[in-house]
Amino acid sequence: MLAGGAGFIGSHLADRLIDEGYRVVAADNLMLGREDNIQHLLSNRNFTFIPLDFSLYEEAHGLFQAYKFDTVFHFAANSDIQASAHDPTRDLKNTFLTSSNLLECMREFQVKEIIFASSSAIYGHKPGVKISEDSGNLWPVSYYGGAKLASEAFIASYCYMNNMKSWIFRFPNVVGGRLTHGVVFDFIKKLRKNPTSLTILGNGKQSKPYLYIDDLIDAIFHIWRNHQEMINCFNIGVDSQTTVTSIADMVCEEMGLQNVQYFYSGEKVGWKGDVPEFQYDLDKIHDTNWKSRYTSDEALRLSIRRILTS
Ligand SMILES: NC(=O)c1ccc[n+]([C@@H]2O[C@H](COP(=O)([O-])OP(=O)(O)OC[C@H]3O[C@@H](n4cnc5c(N)ncnc54)[C@H](O)[C@@H]3O)[C@@H](O)[C@H]2O)c1
Repeated sequence: MLAGGAGFIGSHLADRLIDEGYRVVAADNLMLGREDNIQHLLSNRNFTFIPLDFSLYEEAHGLFQAYKFDTVFHFAANSDIQASAHDPTRDLKNTFLTSSNLLECMREFQVKEIIFASSSAIYGHKPGVKISEDSGNLWPVSYYGGAKLASEAFIASYCYMNNMKSWIFRFPNVVGGRLTHGVVFDFIKKLRKNPTSLTILGNGKQSKPYLYIDDLIDAIFHIWRNHQEMINCFNIGVDSQTTVTSIADMVCEEMGLQNVQYFYSGEKVGWKGDVPEFQYDLDKIHDTNWKSRYTSDEALRLSIRRILTS
């Protein structure tokens, strides 16, 4: 079962699961996801889409009653961190309650595997530190990060109490076709509306690693197949980083726009809750013989092209 299957990452994961011969039941409340993302799968007899809200226990329960699942891929969340800055309940419901409801259904219906889309946001802001899976003092700076960290804790306890296995993946910023939010999505949207100027949140120097969607999906499969501890927790990432101003330059270049005037809102962080820079220690995943194929700049360039041509 794939929760969040109509979203950006969920729909790519659905493609890969179907390609590999799995039967997929994808469910999504379409809060951010789009049916367009999975339109091409709807006629596949191994793929079923069910619109439902996992923050409502009865809806989640009904789904588990109707189907027998081997594995839950939990990719449903409020992925718009900026939006929840003004409304913490958005993350309470969509990022945390989705997790606890899914775990509770797994317990009742004896489903033993969960793959969880966690985030670098659980680490909070750690400037100058290469963040490894063992880094301590986990103080998230967004409600989203808090809800992801709480979900991880619940997953760990459900695994121990119920002999389940989990794969907890802490993603960096992920980019590719079908994006539903984020800096690339925003810049393209703004520049389509006004191709002469662009407002950039922050000072443009925020610098983060951007991972290409194909690399992310490869890493998930690689670890899921080869690691069988009770809790398998990995940072997934890329060694290089890109600044926000470089992303704006790439988007303008790919859209064929020249002399676009940039207006910076000026602060060090784009908005309260944003982590302006971070760097992962990737030794753990690199030691498994997985490494991203694309650099951060290449990932961004590819995804801008994908979005512009779709
Ligand atoms: N994209 C990234 O850079 C990134 C980074 C770190 C972690 N993640 C995590 O990866 C997962 C997928 O993210 P994405 O970028 O594809 O975002 P997305 O918004 O495109 O996908 C999330 C999906 O979950 C669905 N959803 C939200 N609340 C729901 C609910 N209550 N019931 C059912 N469906 C619900 C949304 O409609 C959406 O389709 C999320 O858990 C996100 O937090 C993403």
